Amino acid sequence: MKKILDLITSEVKEAFAACGYDESFAKVTLSNRPDLCEYQCNGAMAAAKAYKKKPIDIANEVVEKLAGGDMFSEVNAVMPGFINIKLEAGYLATYMNNMREGEHCGCEKAKTPLTIIVDYGGANVAKPLHVGHLRSAVIGESIKRMGRFLGHKVIGDVHLGDWGLQMGLIIEELRDRKPELAYFDQNYTGEYPKEAPFTIGELEEIYPAASAKSKTDEEFSARAHEATLKLQNGYAPYRAIWNHIIDVSVTDLKKNYGNLNVTFDLWKGESDAQDYIPGLIKELEDRKLAYESQGALVVDIAEPGDSKELPPCIIRKSDGAALYSTSDLGTILEREKEYCPDWYIYITDKRQELHFTQVFRVAKKAGFVPEDRKMSHLGFGTMNGKDGKPFKTRDGGVMRLETLISDIDTAAYDKIMENRSVSEEEALKTSKIVGMAALKYGDLSNQASKDYIFDMDRFVSFEGNTGPYILYTIVRIKSILAKASELEVQSVGTGDILPAASGVEKDLMLQLSKYNEVIETSFLELAPHKICQYVYELANAFNRFYHDTKIIAEENEKQRASWLSLISLAKDVLTACIDLLGIEAPERM
Ligand code: ARG
Repeated sequence: MKKILDLITSEVKEAFAACGYDESFAKVTLSNRPDLCEYQCNGAMAAAKAYKKKPIDIANEVVEKLAGGDMFSEVNAVMPGFINIKLEAGYLATYMNNMREGEHCGCEKAKTPLTIIVDYGGANVAKPLHVGHLRSAVIGESIKRMGRFLGHKVIGDVHLGDWGLQMGLIIEELRDRKPELAYFDQNYTGEYPKEAPFTIGELEEIYPAASAKSKTDEEFSARAHEATLKLQNGYAPYRAIWNHIIDVSVTDLKKNYGNLNVTFDLWKGESDAQDYIPGLIKELEDRKLAYESQGALVVDIAEPGDSKELPPCIIRKSDGAALYSTSDLGTILEREKEYCPDWYIYITDKRQELHFTQVFRVAKKAGFVPEDRKMSHLGFGTMNGKDGKPFKTRDGGVMRLETLISDIDTAAYDKIMENRSVSEEEALKTSKIVGMAALKYGDLSNQASKDYIFDMDRFVSFEGNTGPYILYTIVRIKSILAKASELEVQSVGTGDILPAASGVEKDLMLQLSKYNEVIETSFLELAPHKICQYVYELANAFNRFYHDTKIIAEENEKQRASWLSLISLAKDVLTACIDLLGIEAPERM
């Protein structure tokens, strides 16, 4: 379905052209004075300069041409030359009916679907998921869903950190704890067991212990470095341990991401890029892009227009080790070969911005990807506690994601039980859905690049710009619709939507009409917060309408049927939007 703004714009363009002005002046936007009008066009001001006339004269001419059609109920020229526009209620009602009948409420699929890699999650194997990973998972899942909804082929890759020093640390800690294991017996020639020599519980304890030890124990730290190198060079016993670490860790990660309703198509990691690294280093050297600097191998990435000086990208350290950037370049080569994506989207903490600028530039400079390949880094800010510092547990430790989720579920449970009479069992089930919405909406409603404060009380509140408020609105619509069918109001969801009978009803329709535009823009700008903004405004518009209108008690059957259709459309749009945020609504709450 065409976007409502485009429909209006083309009408206004015609009017400009009919008056002899270039149609490019006919830009229409939502009104920034909703008290005066719904849409506005400021084009007469710009046209005035080009045609050396008074803006108000041009506006008047255009307004005259626009009057009388069936699209607008009001078009006014206002000093100095604004054109204020209101839509005809009948036109808007037709648009609503088309949304109802069209697929996906009028949000069209892309005509040329793109292949898009979304690299998100980014968990590090053997380290428990903590709240820092929450943002990447939640934002990435939303971006993936939006892309798919718009018809693109989106491939989500968790891109595990599975190749770093943490592996050597775990291996050496394991040696100290269980020296009798065959992996540490140099003369062992048999097969290694299929069972991992540790549980996830142990593994999660082993890593922090090893990491702490390496900070004070130089001998241990040197051993860990050596073990990491040996692993990376393919030493069989360590490869076997590594496989166990991956298996145990990935099983646990899948469970944790599953609890967040976050899924990945690919469980690739940094280790998968390793095969590409020698080749890519050689290529960079052969092409004289890489050069030695203080023993390291680097590639310059600075470009003339840069606002600050960007350091070269280090490809290989002086001790011969490859780095995070090298691994990301290797991954790009692999992805080019296997998927040839039109668009790469990486979602990480914004502190990795320089890293991605370096990687993207080297990839283009070296021709690993074509010059026009779209490569985006969506860098997000920090989730802070109420003290404005990075979110921690009460005793100052790193909060585990599992703990955070269970805390918010409890808070949601208390809220549900506060003044409602649902069974304990139902409240428990609902609190998980509501808790998830509170958590995700609390995150996604902020512009990703900004830091935000994790405020449990606010996030679980049923009022204000929160996930639970949106769910509550959907549940309310569901219950009106259910009541209507119970009372056998025969026309639920079948009646045509009639022209709005009140201002609040028209506002609701105007909000609904923005749907396809909002989804498209949110995806192009990688901005889930714009969907949140929209669902909040839409929920408010619905609630105002609902407080003003006796829907089920309405006696005029056509009117009642129209309202039921309208609120059912509102429910469908709200539900589709929250699905794009990775949130679902319960039946009751
Ligand atoms: N594991 C990394 C981290 O914890 C994030 C990985 C992001 N993806 C990538 N291709 N670099 O910071």
